Amino acid sequence: MSVNKDIKRVTTHVLQAMKEQGEKITMLTAYDFSMARILDEAGIDVLLVGDSASNVMAGHETTLPITLDQMIYHASSVVRAVKRALVVVDLPFGSYQGNSRTALDSAIRIMKESGAHAVKLEGGREVEESVRRILSAGVPVMGHLGLTPQSIYKFGTYTVRAREEAEAKKLIEDAQLLQDMGCFAIVLEKIPARLAGQVAGKLYVPIIGIGAGGAVDGQVLVTHDMLGITKDFQPRFLRRYLGLFDAIKEAAEHYARDVRSRDFPNEKEQY
Ligand code: KIV
Repeated sequence: MSVNKDIKRVTTHVLQAMKEQGEKITMLTAYDFSMARILDEAGIDVLLVGDSASNVMAGHETTLPITLDQMIYHASSVVRAVKRALVVVDLPFGSYQGNSRTALDSAIRIMKESGAHAVKLEGGREVEESVRRILSAGVPVMGHLGLTPQSIYKFGTYTVRAREEAEAKKLIEDAQLLQDMGCFAIVLEKIPARLAGQVAGKLYVPIIGIGAGGAVDGQVLVTHDMLGITKDFQPRFLRRYLGLFDAIKEAAEHYARDVRSRDFPNEKEQY
């Protein structure tokens, strides 16, 4: 029997039940009303208002510049569109590291001002105090380990993480810690598939992978990447389902030709 099939509203409990039943969880990013509506109608279980909005929507090179106010703007647009999916919002860089009081304030602002259902943050042991404080306020937290883009200047590159034993060991310990504290799910980004499978097998909370192989409980991709709206980014883990960059460009060129040639608007397209 499928847990997912007749679910009217996806909750953290539904995701837990899906893991227990061996049903894969689907997650995609969304930053605006129109796209969120399509993805929700498509039955995607979790919509992530990712801080990848910093790259995809604002054109920044990294996720670091996006602000809490900007994340709340994107999140509230997504929430207005969604009937079924669980909406998870990234806490942006600088809004939770170092000071658990700031972390709690940031999480509360997201929940209150956007109407989202949960927050996500990057890191393990380093952000333990922040995670505990947010959870103590009743806000569901999703963890994020492996390649954590907010630390890009520490890593230096976007290459696969946790290939070395020491880093793999720390990742397993961090995942265990996040689960023990009460996080409802964990994203593992760009790590060896074997390691990700090992974590998913060891933990009872759902593990959602991106570039982490198939032996996890669900998958997430950046929507603009899987739709081919972004063009230059082509990591091995990315499957492109459409080539929207070229399709939209062709449509815009077609429109421009029609306007210039006075073909648009025609008699039926005016009052
Ligand atoms: O910001 C984001 O889009 C993410 C996903 C890549 C997991 O964190």
